[in-house]
Amino acid sequence: MGEPDNNHPTTSQRRQQALLAGISLPAMPAWEAEESLDELARLTETAMLTVADRVLQHRDRVDPTYFLGRGKAAEIGDLARAHKAELIIFDNDLSPAQMRNLERLTELRVLDRSGLILDIFARHARTRTAQIQVELAQLNYLLPRLTRQWTHLSRQAGGGAIRGMGAVGVRGPGETQLETDRRMIRKRIRDLRTRLDKIGTQMETGRRGRSGAFRVTLVGYTNAGKSTLMRALSGTRVLVQDQLFATLDSTTRSVDLDSPQNILLTDTVGFIRRLPHSLFASFQATLAEAVEADLLLHVVDLSHPHYAMQIQAVNQVLRDLGLEDRSTLMVYNKADLLDGAGPQPTVSPEAPDEGVRVSALTGLGLDALRQRIAACSRAQTVTLDLIMPQHEGRLLARLESRADILQRSFRDNDVHLRVRVASEEATRLHLKRFQTAAVETLSPNGPENGNA
Ligand code: GTP
Repeated sequence: MGEPDNNHPTTSQRRQQALLAGISLPAMPAWEAEESLDELARLTETAMLTVADRVLQHRDRVDPTYFLGRGKAAEIGDLARAHKAELIIFDNDLSPAQMRNLERLTELRVLDRSGLILDIFARHARTRTAQIQVELAQLNYLLPRLTRQWTHLSRQAGGGAIRGMGAVGVRGPGETQLETDRRMIRKRIRDLRTRLDKIGTQMETGRRGRSGAFRVTLVGYTNAGKSTLMRALSGTRVLVQDQLFATLDSTTRSVDLDSPQNILLTDTVGFIRRLPHSLFASFQATLAEAVEADLLLHVVDLSHPHYAMQIQAVNQVLRDLGLEDRSTLMVYNKADLLDGAGPQPTVSPEAPDEGVRVSALTGLGLDALRQRIAACSRAQTVTLDLIMPQHEGRLLARLESRADILQRSFRDNDVHLRVRVASEEATRLHLKRFQTAAVETLSPNGPENGNA
């Protein structure tokens, strides 16, 4: 979020080395801790850092002072220095005190998973809304950690600096300066919240203006292939990168399918295990696109050895958003990698009956997916406000039998109606010519589940 040249260091710039550290607790199987470290390694690379080495310690419990035991923490500091690493990244969230203690002990900069994810988000935020959301999350993260030692990753790695903060940790502020900085941060948080509220209202108005269309939103674990699928379905160029969180801002495109309704397809930020809570909260405005969707396409990377766990992680986020009952179509992507050419899944690739197997890259299964989306849109119910001449007797009789008449009033020679009808039927009866405004779009399951 700093100056553009800060955000995108050129490849000629030397990348900083980072040592990764994680712990495996009895409650977590060892492979899960390893996998989480793999993910941290990818996150680290996405943050334009190089992984020097990684250490996983098995422990019975977390050490309140140093997270790992003191001895192990000191050992990790030595190892980092041997590798000339300037940074230790923990795969877990550290308390501000643990982070301070570890920095004092190792004399190196220490970052945790949330801090790293925030930094990546800051690099990838493109729209003003996403930038405000990230900055807000960064400031909330920074506030309790603001100390003399604290130095944000962005200062060294060219990542997302926080606007207006200057080099907080670098200039080694005294207590008075720290208090001034804290006050400044609190004020900035208030300002950003106000701005975000305003943007939220504008987005809502924009979304309402699009009512009447069938809204399909892509959700899925980061790197599942949502942007690639979006491009394959909408035929437009959408940023696709083999990096985590290439997508931060949701994009919406119109898709032409064999469907009576206009279909709008929206891409969303990739979900991930242990998404920092502050980030999740501030990203709800972006995820509101998902909240408003008539149909969710849950995209899964079927070639990933632990795709089942990724499905669970995404379902958890959907639950947090109150979307567990939303109509969802499972899309099992990267099927091309399962045909002997690429890595094979270690768990059974059996997709539940209702899922569609596709390859967004080769086009495999996309026709079937298009048909399923079109079928869902046809089955959808729409609520329409109509003004019809009273002499349209046959049509009125047909509406009586095929639609729910929610309101009816007579004015002059016209009848004013509010009807709820299957979108397919609305098309068949050419109701558009009588429509004053589509007031709302309902899910196939009706309004009672809050999908309206
Ligand atoms: P986030 O922005 O992190 O949420 O990622 P995303 O889900 O939008 O994934 P994206 O479309 O950026 O794809 C991630 C990587 O997977 C890219 O390298 C794609 O080329 C690759 N990919 C996507 N779909 C397929 C597929 O069907 N087969 C194969 N082999 N690779 C794919």
